[in-house]
Amino acid sequence: TIENQLRPQLLSQYIGQKKVKNNLKVFIEAAKLRNEALDHVLLYGPPGLGKTTLATIIAHEMNVSIKTTSGPAIERPGDLAAILTSLEPGDVLFIDEIHRLNRVVEEVLYPAMEDFCLDIVIGKGPTARSVRLDLPPFTLIGATTRAGLLSSPLRDRFGVLSRLDYYTTEDLKKIVSRTAEIYQMDIGETASEELARRSRGTPRIANRLLRRVRDFAQVQGFSQIDFDLAIDALERLQVDRLGLDHIDHKLLKGIIEKFRGGPVGLDTIAATIGEEAHTIEDVYEPYLLQIGFLQRTPRGRVVTHKVYEHFQMEVPD
Ligand code: ADE
Repeated sequence: TIENQLRPQLLSQYIGQKKVKNNLKVFIEAAKLRNEALDHVLLYGPPGLGKTTLATIIAHEMNVSIKTTSGPAIERPGDLAAILTSLEPGDVLFIDEIHRLNRVVEEVLYPAMEDFCLDIVIGKGPTARSVRLDLPPFTLIGATTRAGLLSSPLRDRFGVLSRLDYYTTEDLKKIVSRTAEIYQMDIGETASEELARRSRGTPRIANRLLRRVRDFAQVQGFSQIDFDLAIDALERLQVDRLGLDHIDHKLLKGIIEKFRGGPVGLDTIAATIGEEAHTIEDVYEPYLLQIGFLQRTPRGRVVTHKVYEHFQMEVPD
């Protein structure tokens, strides 16, 4: 399918994240030379930067299969045991949102990662007994928004820690052009650059904006996406010049209008604007911190003068 084509299959097709990519290339090559499973990899960074994509690429480059699950999906040790015992030697187990594993499951994971074995308790009460199962060597790839969300015993069991950063406009432009080509769309240079600039450093957003702009083009009967069409569509999508959307606006204006620019606690903002605190913290805040619109202080979040300037508001004393 087209969605499958969108995901690069090889490290050489993956745009950006140069440091992560170059390091992984070495570790993959070394593991292959030794005929071993790749060491466990923790991928961390804001959502939409390509952690899942990288995990599938790693499996592909290692010529192994990948099994995908997520922290909240593994409710009991038995769920984890079922997955682990179904792996072939060298396979990749990808656990998205790995910080959401519960503690009981996490403790089963430790010996699995370290010694490729599984200690499981069979039965209940006085007849309960523990059995040890050997597992094939495998590679655990964990993904999380922040490495600090993991307990240190779990974090310490990853041999490779890779942090993904927001993409440059240049790299996002390449991603937009690549996606447009896969969709067989004709998009101008200035249009793809503008989409890249307004994607908050995030390929997932860039590709989503491109799909929506394509909708506008198609319905209006345009065969090419030029700069004016892109700008018009972005305006209708309420994506501003810096790529901030209506939730970013609600968040920033909420802090200014209800809390005089802060400091204000995360939960208070969340309740005021009706968004989940976790969503604000994991999805919206990181980019606003990155571009210097928001600061975290011990007393809460504060907007900076840049926000007032962006909204053409007077900066208070
Ligand atoms: N699609 C999403 N992220 C990508 C990346 N980093 N490189 C190429 N295509 C992508």
